[in-house]
Amino acid sequence: MSGALAGKRVLVTAGGTREPLDAVRYIGNRSSGRMGVALAAEARRRGAEVTLIASNLTVPAPEGVEVVDAPTAADVETEASARSDADVLLMAAAVSDYRPSETETTKRPKDEHVWRIELEPTTDVLKALGERRTNGQVLVGFAAEIGAAGLERAREKLTAKRVDLIVYNDVSGDDVGFDAEENEVVIVSAEGERRVAKAPKAEIAAAILDEVEQRI
Ligand code: CTP
Repeated sequence: MSGALAGKRVLVTAGGTREPLDAVRYIGNRSSGRMGVALAAEARRRGAEVTLIASNLTVPAPEGVEVVDAPTAADVETEASARSDADVLLMAAAVSDYRPSETETTKRPKDEHVWRIELEPTTDVLKALGERRTNGQVLVGFAAEIGAAGLERAREKLTAKRVDLIVYNDVSGDDVGFDAEENEVVIVSAEGERRVAKAPKAEIAAAILDEVEQRI
């Protein structure tokens, strides 16, 4: 392996977190983990030493990568922070922005009353990593947004979260993005924007890692 990723330590978050309401219920999202898994597989193929922080994956993790389970946003925070010195951080997981303020330890029985749920914000892990990034580290965030206004928001996240790349995908359709085999993204950086036409997630992962390799 002779590419820029060979021998580098790459951390990938993948999947969607689940924030428990009680012993059996949770607040979650539709992320399958396919995009993060494709990134981990491609980084491994390019010779990187890969750790996958896995939040409730619905697809198998690739061969040859270290897998660390992180079902909740708090777990992602703990596990990603412990490895924040990696050369490349690819934050593909859909991490919940909120969690229930209280979690019941047993299964809540049904009664005749309204169940009011209060949600508190979770830590923005990507932002925290951006604040303490080290020289030479490449940090990539993802933005699942809806429509053209979403692309504008993705551009804003580039500076707000101090990342090198934001991978924007429009999740308004059913055929790309969340829980789909294919994706269609815009890779946003300070230097400009690169549109990657609709393709299997393995190809999207290769395009993202080409951009990463140019920055190592
Ligand atoms: N992210 C994170 N920690 C969170 C939430 C999100 O690290 N608690 C990361 C995701 O992994 C993703 C990026 O932040 O790489 C974008 O997530 P998103 O929820 O779109 O960004 P927000 O800043 O929360 O923006 P919004 O106001 O649109 O929710």
